[in-house]
Amino acid sequence: MKPKILVTREVFNDVLEYLSQYFDVTSNQPDLPMDAETLAANLADKQGAMITLSDKIDATLLSRCPNLKAICNIAVGYNNVDIEACRKAGVMATNTPGVLDDTTGDFTWALVLATARRLTEAEAYLRAGQWDRWKLKQFLGLDVHHATLGIFGLGRIGQVVARRAIGFEMKVIYHDVRRAVSEIEEASRARFVSKEELLSQADIVTIHVPYSPATHHLIGKQEMERMKPTAILINASRGGVVDDVALIEALLSGTIAGAGLDVFENEPKLNPGFLALKNVVLAPHIASSSKATRHKMAMLAAENLVAALTTGHPPNLLNPV
Ligand code: DGY
Repeated sequence: MKPKILVTREVFNDVLEYLSQYFDVTSNQPDLPMDAETLAANLADKQGAMITLSDKIDATLLSRCPNLKAICNIAVGYNNVDIEACRKAGVMATNTPGVLDDTTGDFTWALVLATARRLTEAEAYLRAGQWDRWKLKQFLGLDVHHATLGIFGLGRIGQVVARRAIGFEMKVIYHDVRRAVSEIEEASRARFVSKEELLSQADIVTIHVPYSPATHHLIGKQEMERMKPTAILINASRGGVVDDVALIEALLSGTIAGAGLDVFENEPKLNPGFLALKNVVLAPHIASSSKATRHKMAMLAAENLVAALTTGHPPNLLNPV
């Protein structure tokens, strides 16, 4: 008898076909939302699951799934999974590192350019039929070329973003919990600075850190007050790294000039204050969403699940014992 697994959300058909070679698959191609109770009920008799960042895996859920051996997240970020609780329950947890760095880096630049040059605001104006003539001072934006880019987190995605900045002839500074090795600094052409220096020097601040208790509200009121009033803030990492209430206030009061956001606290129910602001570019957590990359993410999660349940050694294990 094949092991039973659950795929909690819609995935590509060939990924399901691959999984079906090894497992008795319960899928969710209609993409019906699963609350905690439905997820627990569906997982109760399963040995493995392929989940997304909207599925919360914690000790309460695990206590209801005695057969569970592996949880494979279709995301590199895994703040939705309590890794310690998985370890205690003997459940392997995996993520999808590496396959989405370039695509997420590209999208960060989409946010940088759209925010700096006020693209969505200008498009809304045009679509509303308000464009009546060329004006010298219309939608004056921030130059990206030769500006100073400040990167929080010079991990894989932060490095991609830094390398893309070379084309814009920018000065790149970064801050991280640890300074990167010289090879990475050289390839990124990035200079390590303190958090305070980054905030006060950068024209564009972009965040590429994982969410954890240590990075909760890494950028709050005080940090925004250190930024230049002409600066913009970009976040394509995780909601919660930025204090959204403080950001809305900073955007309203002119403490900073703009923001480009792909992630939010309590997403998808983002703070409605954002919707009323013109100086923010908003996206529904799509930084990794190219056809090729979302397919690679789903297939890598599937490969992790197959390896976990057949060999016990998935390539992207987060909680080795
Ligand atoms: C990730 O992989 O963590 C991304 O946020 C998913 O889009």
